[in-house]
Amino acid sequence: MVLRHSTRIIVGSSILILMVLLTAGIVWSQDAKKEVVPAYMDTYIGADADQVGSAKCLMCHPKRKPSNTFTHLALLDLDTNSPYYGFGCEGCHGPGGKHNGNKLGIINPNKLSPDEANQFCSKCHSDLRSYNYKSWLMSDHNAAGLDCLSCHGGHSENDKFLKEKDQTELCYSCHAEKRAEFSMRSHHPLKEGHITCDNCHNPHSGDNNNQLVAEGDELCFKCHGDKQGPFVFDHDLSPAMGGNGCLTCHFSHGGNADNLLRFPHRLCLQCHSDKTAEAHHPGTCWATGCHSQIHGSYTSELFFD
Ligand code: HEC
Ligand code: HEC
Ligand code: HEC
Ligand code: HEC
Ligand code: HEC
Ligand code: HEC
Ligand code: HEC
Ligand code: HEC
Ligand code: HEC
Repeated sequence: MVLRHSTRIIVGSSILILMVLLTAGIVWSQDAKKEVVPAYMDTYIGADADQVGSAKCLMCHPKRKPSNTFTHLALLDLDTNSPYYGFGCEGCHGPGGKHNGNKLGIINPNKLSPDEANQFCSKCHSDLRSYNYKSWLMSDHNAAGLDCLSCHGGHSENDKFLKEKDQTELCYSCHAEKRAEFSMRSHHPLKEGHITCDNCHNPHSGDNNNQLVAEGDELCFKCHGDKQGPFVFDHDLSPAMGGNGCLTCHFSHGGNADNLLRFPHRLCLQCHSDKTAEAHHPGTCWATGCHSQIHGSYTSELFFD
């Protein structure tokens, strides 16, 4: 009797758990739909469409079956414990209940306006890691009318979901003149594969000028810490001293003189014009034995060593 009773409880509660799971699944999708579906979606799919599940989409779109390297594989997770469970294809394309084998009733991201495309990605990526939507809105890229899909591809398998396999090639596809700069005699080692554009620029952020990851010399110090000092004798060329920090003397991308120098001949004379006579001395002002510690020195006021 007692045994039967408890069996009933076990059977009963597992049915209950099952029901909770099932309804959780359904209710969850509807909630998720409300949460993640921006208003514009209704104009494409109708307000009351239901989710049908990824398996159904794949019956008619077998080519879109994601491989194991699909960036958004997590959305297709069938594990009910996954925080992303229930999104599926429809997490991006919207509920497919009214899509019956033609172009209607489903979202084709390629057809969204820039504003809609940005909302499309941002409904899930409002604040993921380095990407921040508010900051994006202030960026030159946003101002120029780019949207997420200018750089990221719908079914891309690239780890950052980029349209091009290689980030540098992606940037060159619009900033063609930068390829020439990074091919000059002296250049930051991009084509050698040691750094990438995003080491210095955040493609999404308008927090700093030129979408840089850090402002002014702070950027350069990230990798050239030895030039930061503090030195006993500092050649301080900050804007307050009438200079432009490191960029007073160096190009950021590439140049034809050694060491990314801007003007190899009159580099120093642009400010120390009183030294013109000495400038007939052969070699550069920073040749060995002269002002060779041009960034700053611990011992020499004249940056000799
Ligand atoms: C009964 C078959 C069928 C099912 C199920 C189906 N589709 Fe489609 N889908 C089609 C056909 C056919 C087209 C039109 C293709 C064309 O004209 O090039 C299409 C078009 C699309 C388009 C492009 C729409 C456009 O504006 O160009 C997308 C995106 C899409 N489907 C995604 C999905 C998703 C996501 C699901 C699951 C929710 C799904 N489909 C389910 C058959 C289906
Ligand atoms: C339905 C929600 C959803 C939508 C819509 C969505 N994503 Fe994602 N995205 C995710 C999830 C979840 C991950 C995986 C996160 C993880 O594994 O930690 C992800 C991963 C990514 C990654 C890789 C992150 C990394 O650090 O490697 C990029 C890049 C990305 N998404 C960009 C986009 C872009 C661009 C769009 C618009 C075309 C978009 N996503 C639309 C949910 C979404
Ligand atoms: C100009 C090209 C470009 C545009 C436009 C762009 N991205 Fe990216 N995105 C990148 C590159 C390059 C990376 C990889 C570098 C990195 O990690 O910062 C990236 C990385 C990401 C990541 C993963 C890393 C992180 O920072 O969390 C997410 C998420 C992301 N982008 C979302 C978006 C969304 C959402 C939009 C639209 C509002 C967008 N991106 C627009 C180029 C772009
Ligand atoms: C992270 C969001 C995301 C997920 C998840 C996703 N898609 Fe897409 N899909 C896109 C984007 C963005 C595009 C447009 C860019 C492109 O064509 O690759 C697209 C394009 C498509 C197209 C082609 C539309 C055209 O122009 O003809 C089809 C069909 C499609 N997806 C089906 C699916 C199916 C089926 C699934 C689930 C297995 C799925 N998608 C999952 C974002 C997504
Ligand atoms: C070592 C750091 C660094 C790297 C790597 C880098 N940049 Fe820059 N970039 C800068 C700095 C600093 C500025 C602002 C000062 C200037 O104009 O020199 C700048 C300015 C720019 C500008 C605006 C001014 C102009 O010159 O047109 C663009 C566009 C640009 N970078 C694109 C790129 C692209 C594309 C890549 C990769 C192919 C890249 N940068 C790689 C540091 C870098
Ligand atoms: C789809 C085209 C496109 C792609 C791809 C693209 N950009 Fe841009 N970028 C633009 C446009 C357009 C502007 C605004 C006009 C200008 O300043 O050139 C811009 C502006 C910038 C600026 C600011 C320029 C300034 O004057 O302050 C930087 C820095 C930059 N892009 C870097 C990058 C980097 C790094 C990548 C690769 C991750 C990239 N861009 C990819 C089109 C693109
Ligand atoms: C993401 C890291 C990184 C950042 C940020 C960075 N650099 Fe570099 N820089 C490098 C690397 C790597 C080299 C090559 C070093 C080598 O070959 O030994 C280099 C080389 C140089 C060189 C020597 C070039 C030559 O032809 O030998 C100069 C000058 C230079 N950087 C100046 C700067 C300035 C100025 C800034 C700030 C605008 C800056 N760097 C920002 C990584 C960086
Ligand atoms: C007054 C001009 C001037 C300024 C300002 C300047 N540099 Fe230089 N830099 C030079 C000269 C000249 C050389 C070549 C030195 C040599 O050949 O010994 C050089 C060489 C370099 C080199 C390559 C050789 C080495 O010592 O590693 C790096 C890296 C570098 N500078 C980074 C920086 C950074 C970072 C800043 C900003 C904190 C900066 N420079 C500011 C003039 C300058
Ligand atoms: C943007 C202007 C500017 C440029 C370019 C510049 N300097 Fe200077 N330099 C200054 C200023 C201002 C001072 C004094 C303040 C200080 O110590 O920072 C100074 C100080 C010096 C001193 C210390 C002795 C003195 O007169 O106070 C030496 C030596 C020197 N610079 C050498 C050079 C050399 C060599 C170059 C070229 C590689 C160079 N400078 C490029 C502005 C500049």
